[in-house]
Amino acid sequence: MKKDDLVLITGGAGFIGSHTVDKFINNGYKVRIMDNLSAHEGRWPSYINKKAQKVIGDVTNIKDWEMSLENVSVVIHLAGIMDFHLEFSRFFQINTVGTANLYEAVVKNKLNIEKVVIASSQFVYGFGKWKCQRHGVLYPKEVPERLKKENRWDPICPMCGQSLTYLKNSEEQQADPPNQYAISKYSQELIGLKLGRLYNIPTSVLRYSIAHGSRQNVKNLYSGALRIFALQIMNNQPISLYEDGNNLRDFVSVKDVANANLVTATNPKSNYQIYNVGGGKSYTIAKLAKMIAKSLNKDLKISTGSYRLGDIRHSVSDISKIQKLGWKPTRAESQNINEFLRWLKKQNISSTHLDKIMNEMREKNTIRSFAK
Ligand SMILES: NC(=O)c1ccc[n+]([C@@H]2O[C@H](COP(=O)([O-])OP(=O)(O)OC[C@H]3O[C@@H](n4cnc5c(N)ncnc54)[C@H](O)[C@@H]3O)[C@@H](O)[C@H]2O)c1
Repeated sequence: MKKDDLVLITGGAGFIGSHTVDKFINNGYKVRIMDNLSAHEGRWPSYINKKAQKVIGDVTNIKDWEMSLENVSVVIHLAGIMDFHLEFSRFFQINTVGTANLYEAVVKNKLNIEKVVIASSQFVYGFGKWKCQRHGVLYPKEVPERLKKENRWDPICPMCGQSLTYLKNSEEQQADPPNQYAISKYSQELIGLKLGRLYNIPTSVLRYSIAHGSRQNVKNLYSGALRIFALQIMNNQPISLYEDGNNLRDFVSVKDVANANLVTATNPKSNYQIYNVGGGKSYTIAKLAKMIAKSLNKDLKISTGSYRLGDIRHSVSDISKIQKLGWKPTRAESQNINEFLRWLKKQNISSTHLDKIMNEMREKNTIRSFAK
């Protein structure tokens, strides 16, 4: 990839996309954004880099791809939808078909694309890898219902019933996407890696951990512990802590994610490879809540007794593979939280908006109670 090459960043008006736009422009590349602005009420956000070319286009429409791909050398494909929505088909229309359209447009028009980077998620690992002292490494699918009723959330060995030890997600382990979002992300990976290889379109897949930082969409409150807890704490409400709050997660700065996009896009060694992009440290969700309350200088009130359908117990990524490309996480989670809180305070979000979404998720049975 040469300086001055044109890079297409789909979803470039969004959270990770806009930081990725800045990263490429600051490193001397020309950038075109393709975004349908669905997450921005039809308007380009003011934070968009002035040097970027802007195309309003929808990844579900192959003609929009064809228009946006003109003279492009590299594609960073970030456009997509997330969360726990119940319109299952939308995940596949936008995430899956949107990605198939990219490869179809490239093959049909014989375009010379040097590299595609596909944005995937650590959630494709699902419940992940655990170890039983007696039976070795296992891939449990869920926690038995009877344990949930006792507020026990770790899976157990299906052979001996003993408790298991969680092992970090590593790229070579099998994926086991647990919900509509993760299945659609995994399908994007397969399209990118398989069709990419078949048609000689070098592709890398990045499985991001949960990204934190400024420009996060604060109207979308269907998921995202940082967004939800911050709003609840700011409004003196108890935070909604799912399960027992001891779920492990890892968080990565959005700026480090943008750098991972650049590092993989510019290194041919990453062709047809999958990489985890994480923060390198794990936190319980309860600890995250405490960190947010501390940053806001507020007391923490907690509401427990519920869980989310399709959620996973722990998700922590091993990042040693991408570190071999020279990438590393550079920012502490406390910095990410503070950067997000500064951004949140400038947004006009009412607690009523959050209450409405939480009620909707309860009504649709996505958030459920367990007997205590
Ligand atoms: N944010 C995270 O923590 C995280 C973690 C893992 C993976 N990811 C993946 O990274 C990507 C970017 O996530 P984000 O957090 O920046 O989301 P975001 O919602 O902030 O950005 C997504 C952008 O895509 C655009 N978009 C949505 N549907 C589109 C369509 N049909 N055509 C064109 N544009 C469309 C939206 O308008 C938005 O600007 C997604 O693919 C997501 O699955 C994000």
